[in-house]
Amino acid sequence: MDIKKVMVIGAGQMGSGIAQVCAQAGYTVYLNDLKEEFVQKGLGGITNNLSRQVTKERMTEEEKSKILSNFILSTNLKDSENVDIVIEAAVENMDVKSKIFKELDQYAPNHTILASNTSSLPITEIAAATDRPEKVIGMHFMNPVPVMKLVEIIRGLATSDEVYQAVEDMTKSLSKIPVEVNDFPGFVSNRVLMPMINEAIFTLYEGVATKEAIDEVMKLGMNHPMGPLTLADFIGLDTCLYIMETLHEGFGDDKYRPCPLLRKYVKAGWLGKKSGRGFYVYH
Ligand code: CAA
Ligand code: NAD
Repeated sequence: MDIKKVMVIGAGQMGSGIAQVCAQAGYTVYLNDLKEEFVQKGLGGITNNLSRQVTKERMTEEEKSKILSNFILSTNLKDSENVDIVIEAAVENMDVKSKIFKELDQYAPNHTILASNTSSLPITEIAAATDRPEKVIGMHFMNPVPVMKLVEIIRGLATSDEVYQAVEDMTKSLSKIPVEVNDFPGFVSNRVLMPMINEAIFTLYEGVATKEAIDEVMKLGMNHPMGPLTLADFIGLDTCLYIMETLHEGFGDDKYRPCPLLRKYVKAGWLGKKSGRGFYVYH
């Protein structure tokens, strides 16, 4: 399988990061979102990241222009007819993802791989929305994508070895390190990370300590680069809640019950850094 052209769906924080690393590795990238302004916003973030590399003299102005010339902007899923792989990074919601994959299955050529950057949803269920479950796979990048080395690669029940190999090779071509896992709710990364974040929110909810103290304990005590509440804001509180709900529903165990305070914040629209307010306020 020869992958040259990529479509990234969702130009939010993950989609724009994935698109950036693909374009930097020389792939042609269709960057798709619901509205042109969302695509432009994603591309604006990518341009700023590349400009920072130029300022730091790690990249020339010419290299930056060359990378930016690899982008084609899209608001139509029909553009998937031009690509070898689609990497979907829209919201963490099964209905939204199933609808996208059903549509992609109609437009994308037979050889096209359909990958999802889902944080926790079953790849097998996403694949069931298509008539090509052997070509559906999880390709779970970490945030911030340009910095983090890991890509968790998730095999659905029907994912073929050929598709797995092609995605593993592509991951390496992006200078990332692939790790193979099977299809269980939250995979490995969020099954381990998210209950810790949820527990940190419970400690705040129960008044065990202030948000600053909770973050400081985990940063200085465990050598984590960010405290769990700062990290939750960084990930997005809506995404954290979706992941906890997937774990809770998927395992049916109350140890995954989302903290009521997390629900409250999401209902208030306090989604973290991306909305300007979460556990902390951002300007
Ligand atoms: N995009 C691109 N580059 C970024 C960036 C971004 N959003 N944020 C930071 N960087 C770069 C900076 O430019 C800087 O680069 P150089 O060293 O080359 O100059 C480098 O990262 C370090 O940044 P800073 O010095 O500003 O800050 P820092 O040392 O505190 O590092 C961090 C920032 C890398 C984000 C670090 O705090 C960290 O590792 N945090 C934890 C991240 C983490 O846990 N990610 C996983 C989240 S869970 C997930 O992704 C899965 C899921 O499904 C929810
Ligand atoms: P985000 O809210 O920053 O971006 C989502 C983008 O998807 C938005 O721009 C939105 O307009 C777009 N979108 C929504 N529906 C769409 C559709 N039908 N077609 C095209 N675009 C659509 O969210 P994010 O943090 O980038 O998360 C995206 C995905 O990546 C989620 O599945 C999430 O679980 C996963 N993920 C998130 C993180 C993280 O730390 N935030 C890490 C790894 C994986």
